[in-house]
Amino acid sequence: MSHIRSRFNKPPSEAMIGYTLSLPFDHRLYRYDIDGSIAHAKMLAKQNIIPLEDAEAICRGLEDVAAEIENRKFTFRTELEDIHMAIEARLFEIIGEVAGRLHTARSRNDQVALDLRLFVKDAVAETIAGISKLQLSLVDLAEGNKDVIMPGYTHLQPAQPVLFAHHLLAYFEMFQRDAERLNDVLKRADVMPLGSGSLTGVAYNIDREFVASELGFSQVSRNSMDAVSDRDFVIEYLAAASVCMMHLSRLAEEIILWASAEFGFIELDDAYTTGSSLMPQKKNPDAAELCRGKTGRIYGHMMAMLTTMKGLPLSYNRDLQEDKEGLFDAVDTLLSSLCVFYGMIGSLKVNKKNMERAAMRGYMLATDIADYLVARGETFRSAHGITAKLTRYATDKDKPLDQLSLDEYRKFSSLFDDDIFKVTAASSIAARNVTGGTSPQQVAKAIARAREIVGKTE
Ligand code: ARG
Repeated sequence: MSHIRSRFNKPPSEAMIGYTLSLPFDHRLYRYDIDGSIAHAKMLAKQNIIPLEDAEAICRGLEDVAAEIENRKFTFRTELEDIHMAIEARLFEIIGEVAGRLHTARSRNDQVALDLRLFVKDAVAETIAGISKLQLSLVDLAEGNKDVIMPGYTHLQPAQPVLFAHHLLAYFEMFQRDAERLNDVLKRADVMPLGSGSLTGVAYNIDREFVASELGFSQVSRNSMDAVSDRDFVIEYLAAASVCMMHLSRLAEEIILWASAEFGFIELDDAYTTGSSLMPQKKNPDAAELCRGKTGRIYGHMMAMLTTMKGLPLSYNRDLQEDKEGLFDAVDTLLSSLCVFYGMIGSLKVNKKNMERAAMRGYMLATDIADYLVARGETFRSAHGITAKLTRYATDKDKPLDQLSLDEYRKFSSLFDDDIFKVTAASSIAARNVTGGTSPQQVAKAIARAREIVGKTE
């Protein structure tokens, strides 16, 4: 806007305009900018800082600008630099010189901080909603397959049998913490910065609490220099988003493994796979792979923002304009990842036979055999040694444990009896009936609890 440059003798160079421009990305803040301006104008009139009829003209004009943007009738002129100036310039064209009253007792520094806080608050709510939907699809898949047994792994080596539902619910827990972390971001994003002016506050009798309540904020900022210059709430969102994306990426990795011919535990729906241009037999888990790949982007945005902030003296510095693109991309990437996972989890087919066959292989009942000896008086350490030798013997003979005869068992301990053959994957699972364990009883409880707490964050 020309008045901002009235003290200069020259217009900015083309290169300078292109370099400083934020309109191509911050136009996305338009609705927050307009809502903030309307609340501000109403407050200015209420406080008798500007005439009521001027405030009314400003509010009507701002709604007209919003409608133009929504109906794609608005021309974004790059010489106007950012969304704040683009909207104000258009307001001048629509309502004339009274538009000049809107920026009373305000600076773009507190204005942009306000817009971004409103954006983050909405982003948090949308992200939590996306997480909750995905959590429910995990619970549905768990409940629909609540008897399916699979190998549980450590070091990606078959370790102990586990219910598939229990494995899925592990992700429910991770996503629940992600939702809680995001909700925590909200507590600190929910602070209204307008009234901080450029950096020191404003010299008018404004009512900050009124603006806060108009815009749905629960608090006003306590230090003007802090309010215009910190972006820790952006970093917190990016940090919470990074952790959530890390969890999605782990789930992606499992899906990729499970869908492989080697595992064959699940089949992904055609709608969530791609074919190969060369190999007709291929059905590739691209959505899961892309999610794993996109995780790096979100981590990158977090590092970028931390780095942008680290050398900034108080208060506002133009470096802060770099807060937006990474944040927007992180929100878009996370929301689309959650959405695609929701569909992918909801449509995949479970190959119960393959999972259960795999759960029978690999001497996964060794721990239960040790537990069997413990129940008959052996110490756990010595039972562990006996079972290790037994397993070694069975491996050498290339026989599964349940194919050994009682005599063979007895070579290792006289405590073995006929009932050793009652140790099965199902008995192993049923025995783990502690809170948080994989027994069917515990898993049923966990499913019920999950349905109760999903979407509720504190
Ligand atoms: N586009 C700017 C930003 O994103 C708006 C604030 C500009 N303030 C200033 N003093 N130049 O940070």
